[in-house]
Amino acid sequence: MKVRVGVNGYGTIGKRVAYAVSRQDDMELIGVTKTKPDFEAYLAKEMGIPVYAAGDGFIQRFEKAGFDVAGTLSDLLEKVDVIVDASPGGMGAKNKAIYEKAGVKAVFEGGEKANVAEVSFVAQANYEKALGKDYVRVVSCNTTGLTRTLSAIQEYIDYVYAVMIRRAADPNDSKRGPVNAIVPTVEVPSHHGPDVQTVIPINIETSAFVVPTTLMHVHSVMIELKKPLTEKDVVDIFENTTRVLLFEKGRGFESTAQLIEFARDLHREWNNLYEIAVWKESISVKGKRLFYIQAVHQESDVVPENVDAIRAMFEMAERWESIRKTNRSLGILK
Ligand SMILES: NC(=O)c1ccc[n+]([C@@H]2O[C@H](COP(=O)([O-])OP(=O)(O)OC[C@H]3O[C@@H](n4cnc5c(N)ncnc54)[C@H](OP(=O)(O)O)[C@@H]3O)[C@@H](O)[C@H]2O)c1
Repeated sequence: MKVRVGVNGYGTIGKRVAYAVSRQDDMELIGVTKTKPDFEAYLAKEMGIPVYAAGDGFIQRFEKAGFDVAGTLSDLLEKVDVIVDASPGGMGAKNKAIYEKAGVKAVFEGGEKANVAEVSFVAQANYEKALGKDYVRVVSCNTTGLTRTLSAIQEYIDYVYAVMIRRAADPNDSKRGPVNAIVPTVEVPSHHGPDVQTVIPINIETSAFVVPTTLMHVHSVMIELKKPLTEKDVVDIFENTTRVLLFEKGRGFESTAQLIEFARDLHREWNNLYEIAVWKESISVKGKRLFYIQAVHQESDVVPENVDAIRAMFEMAERWESIRKTNRSLGILK
């Protein structure tokens, strides 16, 4: 029996999760919702994905354009076992009542507060916490990125301070900025540290800046160690950590531009770089301090987590079986 999955909100994250679900042999993509009949709705339909109106209030837009929808969100909910809510941040919490009424499990995304769900999730860090749960939140792209590397070296960590250099907008977004400024998040520490603590119990503080780029986020991570660790140890650990890849400046990976070109060269769909990219040369130990720099492809790193969250919620596989299956299906390198 395949788990029947719907996706409510077919934007940056929703369309990638829908694609990833369609690649799983134990899941079936039943449909996606749209609020309007734009090119994304037409393309989804052409690809054979049933398109539902995101609510009764949106039906008229589709009728006016002569776009035949498969029904509304309530119709979709009748046909699925789980809905992935990839609507704009904060809307998932409002939608939760609809899912509860329909008796459908839900995966929420990182734009929601932690209390929307029973557990905040990163597969390699806390898969078991989501086993059998009805509501799971896949944490944000930044939190997923920090958690992937920090959980791998958790036993050595006394304290983490990380500076988050955030992309201003996704590439498809023509409304957000800045285009010529660096914007500090003046609340210091920023919310990212506490968000990591919803997944793993570590001592972490963060600050954040938004910069004019669309490709990726970059994190400068500084760690106070509680037991000795060499640079080689860290390289070995990250080389053996799933969904984390080491890149060398010496091989041409000078910036996020080349990381995204690498994903393009792999012919990855939407140039997704699901893995967290750590610059190997940046891994540096000075006495009791460890430093490294990593990049996060904000549009795609959370996608495999959504797939694993569904498997955990339906107890379809244990942690590593699910991670390996998801990795294989999406061409994740390790
Ligand atoms: N983008 C990222 O970098 C990123 C990374 C990790 C996590 N997240 C999180 O993922 C979630 C989705 O973000 P996103 O970047 O994918 O947003 P997005 O690109 O703006 O997509 C959101 C989609 O939700 C749809 N929508 C709007 N109103 C809706 C409604 N009333 N009901 C259902 N759907 C509605 C829109 O569909 P229409 O086009 O039909 O209007 C839009 O395509 C957020 O929680 C966000 O914080 C985002």
